Amino acid sequence: MAGSKYRRGTRFTAEIADLAFKGRGVANIEGMIAFVDGGLPGDTVLFEILRRKRRHLEGRVVEILTPSSDRVEPRCSHFGFCGGCRLQDLAYEKQIGFKAAQVREQIVRIGNLDDPGEIPIIPCEPTFGYRNKMEFTFGTDREGTSGLGLHPRGEFRDVFDLTECYLPSPSFAKIVEATRRHFDGLTYEPYHPIEHTGFLRFLVVREGRNTGEILVNLVTAEGIVDNPEQWVAAIRKAAPEIVTVVHTINSLRANVAVGELQDVWYGDGTFTEILAGLKFTLGPLSFFQTNTRQAEILFATAMEYTALTKDDRVLDLYSGAGAISLQAARRAGSVTGVELVPEAVRAATEAATQNGIENCEFVCADSLESMKAEVAAGHTYDIVLVDPPRAGLHPKVIKRLAEMAPDRIVYVSCNPGTLARDLGLLAEHSYALEKITAVDMFPHTAHIEAVALLRRQGKND
Ligand SMILES: C[S@@+](CC[C@H](N)C(=O)[O-])C[C@H]1O[C@@H](n2cnc3c(N)ncnc32)[C@H](O)[C@@H]1O
Repeated sequence: MAGSKYRRGTRFTAEIADLAFKGRGVANIEGMIAFVDGGLPGDTVLFEILRRKRRHLEGRVVEILTPSSDRVEPRCSHFGFCGGCRLQDLAYEKQIGFKAAQVREQIVRIGNLDDPGEIPIIPCEPTFGYRNKMEFTFGTDREGTSGLGLHPRGEFRDVFDLTECYLPSPSFAKIVEATRRHFDGLTYEPYHPIEHTGFLRFLVVREGRNTGEILVNLVTAEGIVDNPEQWVAAIRKAAPEIVTVVHTINSLRANVAVGELQDVWYGDGTFTEILAGLKFTLGPLSFFQTNTRQAEILFATAMEYTALTKDDRVLDLYSGAGAISLQAARRAGSVTGVELVPEAVRAATEAATQNGIENCEFVCADSLESMKAEVAAGHTYDIVLVDPPRAGLHPKVIKRLAEMAPDRIVYVSCNPGTLARDLGLLAEHSYALEKITAVDMFPHTAHIEAVALLRRQGKND
């Protein structure tokens, strides 16, 4: 019987034919699709079933029987165990080929749009040392030993001690090491994500890649850290580029590395970054693209798509610290940025002043509320830029966009699935996909960024 053939723990020889969402290998096991953790296209592997779903199997590689010719030696000693990089053992040109194919496939399958053909992808150069932000977690490993690092693959509860990581600059691992050594000797417990006990939650490190300045943020549960100056001295000794150290408190159960700003222990609570010649002064709560160099390329593509002139009025939804808005403002007549987080709005407003840009204003509001108000007031824009979080656009935001009827929409997305869904919905409101480019912001991970140009189809089209 088919049910018993695919029991948990059963092993099959599998040929990996493709890569799927999240970078898992895809195989056909006697007529059943299997997602194979650790398998790469071209591998023949011994596959073990971990879960049987209604239409597919999920499992892992027990042994690589014949390796794919596209395999390369991973650089990091944590690779395979760490949840951070999934694709470090795949040749980089294959990684980006897979990412571009994913965007294309999702536009057709999820967006229900015509096949856009091969999607261009802009590679990241260099492929290591590109991240300007990392969130490290305090926790325990499977044996219950406290540590500071990242989660093992597929495990959001456990944490392993990170000793190296090639995605950010080398100072990050030094800050982790100095922090671990400092807190090892003290009695603070790491926070437990299920029992919601303990105190130390996250260590967030952010770096201005074009300034060298580093911000360190210790995120804890409610409580006090005794003698923080001793820890600050230890991490500053490990990384003299640190310009500020802050303490934020996350008293919520949600396992996220953000909180309320509690103390500024060193510096003024901000660091600076320069992106496309614009200076930004950023605090711990302001979103900023995590790969500065590729963000410059991503935004340059977005600007090329907008083809702005001084006659254009632009609305930038989900504007963060204003990185896209301010570039648009250099080219357009006026720009309004809309952002939910007050600190980001402050940073964006300050950046406009610092950079001498006078035709750009920022509004602190929820995008949907803002769109309702804009439409009700009869405001119109020639172009709307959107760069939402991974969840994409709220369907009501799409409805309001259609009512506002800008000529062009430029959509920057970090999630091809929700991008495809939204492109499909926008197509129902007469916005046709004109151009799309993928930009690899995160080599060795399965994450994909893309920018799309949509144009409103008029009565004569
Ligand atoms: C992917 S980031 C883009 C930021 C900016 N465009 C950039 O590239 O630097 C998404 C931003 O949307 C903001 N955000 C999330 N939900 C929002 C909402 N409902 N309304 C307005 N902004 C929101 C987040 O705080 C974050 O700054």
